[in-house]
Amino acid sequence: MWSHPEGAWPTADDARQSRVFSPVRLGPIWARSRTWVPAMVPWRATDGGNVTPELLAWYGRFADGRPGTIVVEATGIRDVKSGPLLRIGHDRFIPGLRRLVETVRERSGGETRLLIQVIDFLKVRRRPDPKRYFDRYLDLTARHRAALAELLSDDGWRDATDGDVREKLSGLDDDAWAQVLDGRELESLRRGHRERVTDTHLPHIAELPRVLPGSFADAAARARRAGFDGLELHFAHAYTMASFLSRMNDRTDGYGGSLEDRARLPLEVIRSVRRRVGDDWCVGARFLGDEAIDGGSPVEDACFFARAFARAGVDFLSVSKGGKFEDARQPAVGAAVYPYTGPSGLECMPTVRVDAPGPFGRNIPLAAAIRRAVRADGRCVPVVASGGLCSFGQMEEILARGLADVVAAARQSLADPDWWEKIRSGRGSEVRRCAYTNYCEGLDQRHKEVTCRLWDREFAPGEGAELSRDGRRRLVAPRWDSRLPSSDEGER
Ligand SMILES: Cc1cc2nc3c(=O)[nH]c(=O)nc-3n(C[C@H](O)[C@H](O)[C@H](O)COP(=O)(O)O)c2cc1C
Ligand code: SF4
Repeated sequence: MWSHPEGAWPTADDARQSRVFSPVRLGPIWARSRTWVPAMVPWRATDGGNVTPELLAWYGRFADGRPGTIVVEATGIRDVKSGPLLRIGHDRFIPGLRRLVETVRERSGGETRLLIQVIDFLKVRRRPDPKRYFDRYLDLTARHRAALAELLSDDGWRDATDGDVREKLSGLDDDAWAQVLDGRELESLRRGHRERVTDTHLPHIAELPRVLPGSFADAAARARRAGFDGLELHFAHAYTMASFLSRMNDRTDGYGGSLEDRARLPLEVIRSVRRRVGDDWCVGARFLGDEAIDGGSPVEDACFFARAFARAGVDFLSVSKGGKFEDARQPAVGAAVYPYTGPSGLECMPTVRVDAPGPFGRNIPLAAAIRRAVRADGRCVPVVASGGLCSFGQMEEILARGLADVVAAARQSLADPDWWEKIRSGRGSEVRRCAYTNYCEGLDQRHKEVTCRLWDREFAPGEGAELSRDGRRRLVAPRWDSRLPSSDEGER
């Protein structure tokens, strides 16, 4: 178990003069400080993908802490059913998103910049019950009949009816299935079917390069109309754009294979978005400094992509790590595979149980390498670092040593949305510190409303806090009354 980095909290004066609370330029806009709340899906949108009062309360609560920038959760760019995931794939989403912008502006006193993260993802089916898989999903061919005949040493299976073969297959065990099914079929049975960007035999996958630049540009135009200060293109983790960048992408149509070809679609997306929204609106990208899976892209690839994105005109580069499907845990029957459950998921959201060097600033070397590569190329696009950032001294040192330009904290900001304001006002000793044990991430995994275990059962008498659907947890952190004297002051 790792413990929080040591270090004293600054006085209000020291905070005012610090790098952490100094302004940073993000292309055409300035953020008032280098503090950043990265995207976090809270599962509070409607099933139709619309903004809800609970979502406004969630972002309003982060805005109370007045970070330099908040990035709104991964928001779907297509107009397709996606469960309670926030969406921006049609103009009808604009009014709700505009309310979100207004809420953050009002609650932060206009001090916080608001960006929205936009995402495309491919289809992932739930892990099927084996009987259902063999009855409904398996595309039965002569190959299966031959394999079954060989496995059972009975040539009669070569001419058996579909129904008989399906029934026989569903009664076998996992070892036998491994002998009859090919790799993808076995994966679909064991983990649920998952589309890949390399499934170019499927027309809708083959045409992604034709469709996505326009879809991202449309989403960007809507975000601009809704009043956001800018956009973060989600090129990270397990989703479509990260899969194009991945070393595992061996498409042969000019959008896979070499580094240049893997970067081609992301660059076309960046250029298409730019053409649509112009140069006077902030557009950045979040991508992986390291995929952290066998055969995945390492930091050298990330440096190449960062230079290419910077040349194409992004206004910031936000670095994440891991979070892939390839090494995710096998889901239970009826559940979908979730990309943050394996070793690469642990790299993405490291806990206090992770191996050396522990969770605190674990991914900083990736951000630093990327920043160096971009600067060596003559560009000074700011680099946003995240992963276990939770103390002032640690963040100030990262900035002082030029390892990153902006410090992002997801879970620490969830544990205490006021923490930036507490530090800034010299009351850092009042920060409620994240325990980095990922209770919140467990809720995310089950698509339950995300809350923090440090406060979700804390109720003040007569407060009337909004509750989760199960009626047991409060949905936003209790209020911090900054007018009350700090406990230190009270003792004096
Ligand atoms: C509940 C939850 C939801 C998240 N959702 C997103 C997301 O929508 N997009 C994204 O890029 N990262 C997402 N992340 C990852 C965080 O932005 C961040 O990179 C990660 O938690 C590591 O930073 P931290 O140590 O400060 O928490 C999520 C993290 C959590 C805990
Ligand atoms: S639930 Fe745990 S890991 Fe998540 S924000 Fe709260 S303390 Fe941190």
